[in-house]
Amino acid sequence: MTRKIAVLPGDGIGHEIMDAAMAVLACLELNHGFDAEYETAMVGGTAYDEFEHPLPESTLKLAKEADAVLLGAVGGYEWEHLDISVRPEIALLGLRSELDLFSNLRPAILYPQLADASSLKPELVAGLDIMIVRELTGGIYFGKPRGVRTLENGEREGYNTLVYSESEIRRIAHSAFQTAQKRDKRLCSVDKANVLEVTELWREIVTETGKEYPDVELSHMYVDNASMQLVREPKQFDVIVTTNMFGDILSDTAAMLTGSIGMLPSASLDENGKGMYEPVHGSAPDIAGQNKANPLAMILSVAMMLRYTFGELALAEKVEKAVSLTLDEAYRTADIDDGSGRLVGTKEMAQAVINQLNKLEN
Ligand code: IPM
Ligand code: MG
Repeated sequence: MTRKIAVLPGDGIGHEIMDAAMAVLACLELNHGFDAEYETAMVGGTAYDEFEHPLPESTLKLAKEADAVLLGAVGGYEWEHLDISVRPEIALLGLRSELDLFSNLRPAILYPQLADASSLKPELVAGLDIMIVRELTGGIYFGKPRGVRTLENGEREGYNTLVYSESEIRRIAHSAFQTAQKRDKRLCSVDKANVLEVTELWREIVTETGKEYPDVELSHMYVDNASMQLVREPKQFDVIVTTNMFGDILSDTAAMLTGSIGMLPSASLDENGKGMYEPVHGSAPDIAGQNKANPLAMILSVAMMLRYTFGELALAEKVEKAVSLTLDEAYRTADIDDGSGRLVGTKEMAQAVINQLNKLEN
């Protein structure tokens, strides 16, 4: 059975980093026995310009039919004035919800080669390796009712709804426990159970689900404390599981702990391992088209795709190893350069990874 990969470069630096990822995939096909079919489609602002919607039907269909989706980045200055219903970011929310990608894995790994990039003291972050499991298709992002209404006194009132059903909590809990089982077997569930009933239920269901995973040590933390602990003593965490909005916020904090957001990949998975893979960083319109963007987060997203959708663990490790060896050789794009490395552009960085890949044994 041929694997189908939908390729959605998106906007801004999305195209350049996707070219880099495709070059790495071509190398895996040529020298390492990987085989897949690729089809490219527009998404985000680029798609809006062509189809008047950031997630055209044809793109959604392609994504639905594929086994995995690779996404570059969406957004840019020229689309910021658009109505919220057709902003580029809407495409992300649409893909997540239409493909039922409820489990969002966001690793925050500090590469020892880049330890000085963090704003925290090196001893606090050396060896940092956290996985945030963010619920991605529910909670306040999608809850109804939502909107802005006018009250009797003429004043307007905005409202959104934070809602989670037991089954939504249970499935993300399973996903998080299983993720923890493959790591250090410690899971911290983050909620606001002291104030919000919905997260009181969250805590109850996560605890109940935990009985099926006696090998995983479960703890609970309120979100305000978790945000503090992440910058106070981040290495206390192994896996964190949390709601859509708390996960949005905490994953940015965790990413910044590493000091190099240009290095971080992510996976958004459905119940069957189908996934959408994208860098954590955005479309960086200020450097788009200049061969300056760091392609490593996109390349590491390919590694996550190999691991989580295709079960190609050895290939995934090869890609990750090649990235690490490339950093050892002091190749640096501008975002991770402290002046002492070899400053290179997007294409050269991708080529350096490919050179390392080709040196690794088949
Ligand atoms: C993210 C982003 C998105 C989110 C935006 C762009 C809709 O911040 O993936 O973390 O809030 O989920
Ligand atoms: Mg975010």
